[in-house]
Amino acid sequence: MADSCLPSARPGADDRPGKRLGAVLIGLAAWTATTVSGQDIERDPINYGAATPRNVVAKLQDRIAKGDTKLAFEPAQGYLQSLLRELDVPESSQVLVFSKTSMQRQRISPRTPRAIYFNDDVMVGFCVSGQVIEISAVDEAIGTTFYTLDQEREEKVVLERQTESCLLCHSSSSNQGIPGHLVRSLYVDREGQPLLASGSFRTDHTSPLPERWGGWYVTGTSGRQKHMGNMISQGPRRPEKLENDKGVNVVDLKGRFPTSLYPTPHSDIVALMVLEHQVGMLNRLARAGMETRMAMHYQSELNKALGQPIDEPSESAQSRIRNVAEAVIPYLLFRDEIELTDRIEGTSSFASDFVSRGRRDSKGRSLRDLDLKTRLFRYPCSYLIDSRAFDSLPREVKSLIYGRLWKILNGQGTGKDDPQLSLEDRTAILEILRETKTDLPDSWKRAT
Ligand code: HEC
Repeated sequence: MADSCLPSARPGADDRPGKRLGAVLIGLAAWTATTVSGQDIERDPINYGAATPRNVVAKLQDRIAKGDTKLAFEPAQGYLQSLLRELDVPESSQVLVFSKTSMQRQRISPRTPRAIYFNDDVMVGFCVSGQVIEISAVDEAIGTTFYTLDQEREEKVVLERQTESCLLCHSSSSNQGIPGHLVRSLYVDREGQPLLASGSFRTDHTSPLPERWGGWYVTGTSGRQKHMGNMISQGPRRPEKLENDKGVNVVDLKGRFPTSLYPTPHSDIVALMVLEHQVGMLNRLARAGMETRMAMHYQSELNKALGQPIDEPSESAQSRIRNVAEAVIPYLLFRDEIELTDRIEGTSSFASDFVSRGRRDSKGRSLRDLDLKTRLFRYPCSYLIDSRAFDSLPREVKSLIYGRLWKILNGQGTGKDDPQLSLEDRTAILEILRETKTDLPDSWKRAT
């Protein structure tokens, strides 16, 4: 998918968050004005900025404040490794992006890529000599939340919530103005500047590999399948004929940048593919949660005004909730996922670390099992159905999603857009969910 809303790169702008981010923000205002849509997340019932967050970062901050734990500052990467340990984010999830497309752009280049780490609940961004560590987290009430952690040794370590600065980029029209995660792919020059005139792509599991990973380092093999990873454009425009032979099937990044500045030398291809799926899924779930809360609020206000029982269903609120549920289902079931034609193999322990986190059914199956031969996962139903993001959805939208899912998994999907799953996949997914998911509606427990 072409992606037009990118900031123009501004070398020299101050890149500190909060107050010090001012210069960058003014620079960005021109393009964000057209990207943030009309959602008012600062009003009831969301109150994004004022709400008390409920997420793993807020919990960690509580533990630090109470003195139950401490973050250790280490000479090489400051608080990074200690933070990853406390948040239970594996180092093997490291992926490296060298385009100057994010907040601390002065620190980012092909010689000093930005590193991103993630688990199901939280993502962490690290720059070499960065002034802050950037964090995005799944919140149970207000969708995606953002934090920074100063990279200076301090007595009192504070994970500082950011309610405005990050949203300039992280709340774009592609997610209907709702705060969310980002991944994209573009052409990048030797300095890491994106060649904006040459276009860019938002990437998820539906993106063909030749559109992926422009501006990212990629370690791992994909056989004859080409991609844009590890590629540095020499001129001011993208190359006419894009071959990128030297960028594909790279298993070692030595010589491209000082890999010893990072906890691991990898930017694992499997981690990248999982991250891209996850970003698309978490954004849809965050939107489903927020829209539902807003619709329910609207419905009760309307009922109050009309003197009706508070929970009298309003058609417009119900249809808004149906719409966001419908946006979750196809993505959850990997409709339109690209077909792999050669095996994908990473270089780090990401794949095994990722798979080992899964809940398994009595036959040993998990939705985290990877395929990597013809598709990303063994079973085409997102592992994020068993995550904080899904579990914290309001019941109104969750029950709609479960209802549609039940029909599709039982071969009664009727919508023309319904994902077409094989009988074998449907049966496996149903069996795994029934044994591993604790909040299924009662109807799911009856035999099919
Ligand atoms: C100038 C635009 C911009 C601003 C401002 C910005 N980001 Fe990002 N961020 C991006 C882009 C683009 C990506 C995707 C990866 C990349 O290109 O570096 C990203 C990715 C991330 C990621 C990893 C994946 C994800 O989307 O969750 C984290 C974590 C993150 N940003 C945190 C933050 C935090 C915290 C702030 C505010 C303190 C912030 N960002 C401000 C542009 C921005």
